[in-house]
Amino acid sequence: MTASLIDGIAIAAKVRSEVAVGVGKLLKDSGITPGLATVLVGDNVASQTYVRAKQKACAEVGIESYGHVLSSDSTQNEIVSLVRDLNADHSVHGILVQLPLPDGINEEEVLSSISIEKDVDGFHPINIGKLGMKGRDPLFVPCTPDGCMRLLQESGAEFSGANAVVLGRSNIVGLPAAMLLLKRNATLTVCHSRTRNVAEVCRQADILIAAVGRPEMVKADWVKPGAFVIDVGINNKWISHTDDREFRCASSGDLFTAHHQDLSEKGGRKRMGYLDESSGDVYSRDHLPNGIEVEGLVKLFRKNKLVGDVDFDEVKEVAGHITPVPGGVGPMTIAQLLSNTLRSAQALS
Ligand code: GUN
Repeated sequence: MTASLIDGIAIAAKVRSEVAVGVGKLLKDSGITPGLATVLVGDNVASQTYVRAKQKACAEVGIESYGHVLSSDSTQNEIVSLVRDLNADHSVHGILVQLPLPDGINEEEVLSSISIEKDVDGFHPINIGKLGMKGRDPLFVPCTPDGCMRLLQESGAEFSGANAVVLGRSNIVGLPAAMLLLKRNATLTVCHSRTRNVAEVCRQADILIAAVGRPEMVKADWVKPGAFVIDVGINNKWISHTDDREFRCASSGDLFTAHHQDLSEKGGRKRMGYLDESSGDVYSRDHLPNGIEVEGLVKLFRKNKLVGDVDFDEVKEVAGHITPVPGGVGPMTIAQLLSNTLRSAQALS
């Protein structure tokens, strides 16, 4: 391996501890506890997991979280009306509406209804607009791209004049990442589904941010030797085994069966076991040892592996610096959210 690993877990821990210190100081100096309101609409399982993780992270740094869950058949008016109540609530300093919203809900209208002073996700059109404009500064920047910039900064990347390529143009990551790089005077190219010769374009990049949601798309010959490679992708790669297989639970020693079909949407025999990707250990649902958290584990139906948009095993031999998946960009999103919430509380206090 030639690349040095960009350790998102360590850098996120540093951000979180800075936030915890700031939260303590704000409470001591002004008697204010920062508050984050989360709004979850519908029953998207991934969104439920993300929101739970955000609430847990808030608790760990002393930020109060106020969880609001609306059913998937909520109307536009109900969602906007909740946001307006939260805008007026003095104990709430940040409002996070988890995306995606259910079909039929106008996302733009919901995001526009968040007060820009409480827009800790940075998705309000005014905050996004200012991010793209010369000489203007948004109050908040979207958390995942801001986390990417912090990872680059902490690893010694030079932005000014660097060739930066962003793969993907989503509102949540690709587009704001591109605007952040431009603000730092990088020479910017954004690649998307219509881009010709993507590999050749990526190969010019001193800084490459991959945010397309395509498992292991970026190969070694897409990467300039020595480049900084930031992998935003979180994709499931299924490794099929053809039969139901027995695993021995690492904590209890019991045998249990993982089924080769993905039964996740069918109810019934859900969550037969969990795979800890860092150790390769498997646990049955009822025998998770102390200190192991379900959020960090992968549900085991078939054997499953999380991979990014970058083929890590190949690209690590070419890049100068690279983020792993998991343990790269992922932890930074929540850390930046905590940081934005603290900043909002400081500004509103
Ligand atoms: N969905 C995926 N990423 C995000 C995020 O950073 N914020 C919100 N609100 N929703 C998301």
